[in-house]
Amino acid sequence: MAAQTRYSKTAIALHWTIAVLIIGLIIFGLLMTNPNMPNRFVLYQLHKSFGIMVLILSIFRLIWRLLHTPPPLPEGMKKWEVAAAKFTHIAFYVIMIGMPLLGWAMVSASPLPIPTELFWTIPWPDIPFIPESEELEDTFQFLHGNIGKLTIGLIVLHFGAAMKHHFVNKDNVFVRMFPWARERD
Ligand code: HEM
Ligand code: HEM
Repeated sequence: MAAQTRYSKTAIALHWTIAVLIIGLIIFGLLMTNPNMPNRFVLYQLHKSFGIMVLILSIFRLIWRLLHTPPPLPEGMKKWEVAAAKFTHIAFYVIMIGMPLLGWAMVSASPLPIPTELFWTIPWPDIPFIPESEELEDTFQFLHGNIGKLTIGLIVLHFGAAMKHHFVNKDNVFVRMFPWARERD
């Protein structure tokens, strides 16, 4: 059987859905924490709803990834480039699951009685074993906010690598993660 050269439709759909959601959540998160922003309560509820969506999709994606081998990287990549790609991808999986968990832990620890209702319909419980504590809330908030900012750097790096593959190396690495693009010979 010929070696697989593209990511599957499921992997591509999950990659881009989660990427758009995470980029949106970072922009949203940074805007809604500005005290001058109107309708902050609504924005917080939307941020939490889309964040939990990322958690569910990412768990599914991780399981999918463990059950399916991705196409191999092109030959000729330097050792450090392969290592950097692997590190970035693993870091993304940690962030895709870790960031929503930290956000959920933050609101669970908050002594303020603000319920989480996903899209104003599905009541979402707090994590039961996390005690209410302002100190804990601050710690989770610190981690959630700073890892969120680090994620921007990782996305820039990842985007830059994809563009280098496409425009400098002229290989199939970008194309195989893009739904409509044709593979190069
Ligand atoms: C991948 C998913 C997520 C990303 C990328 C993300 C990103 C962010 C960012 C960048 C901020 C702004 C931090 C700051 O200005 O210091 C933020 C704030 C916040 N996030 Fe998330 N978030 C995610 C998921 C969640 C989830 C699932 C929840 C809760 C269920 C949540 C709750 C919050 C809250 C309450 C704040 C405001 C914290 C504050 O008042 O300083 N987030 N988020
Ligand atoms: C928050 C945003 C993003 C996240 C979390 C993310 C995450 C990931 C992960 C985890 C992989 C590895 C797939 C696997 O083997 O399991 C991957 C691959 C890929 N991503 Fe992203 N990505 C994001 C944004 C982007 C953007 C903006 C681009 C645009 C250029 C992009 C282009 C690619 C490409 C071309 C691959 C395939 C790399 C390869 O075949 O080795 N990603 N991404």
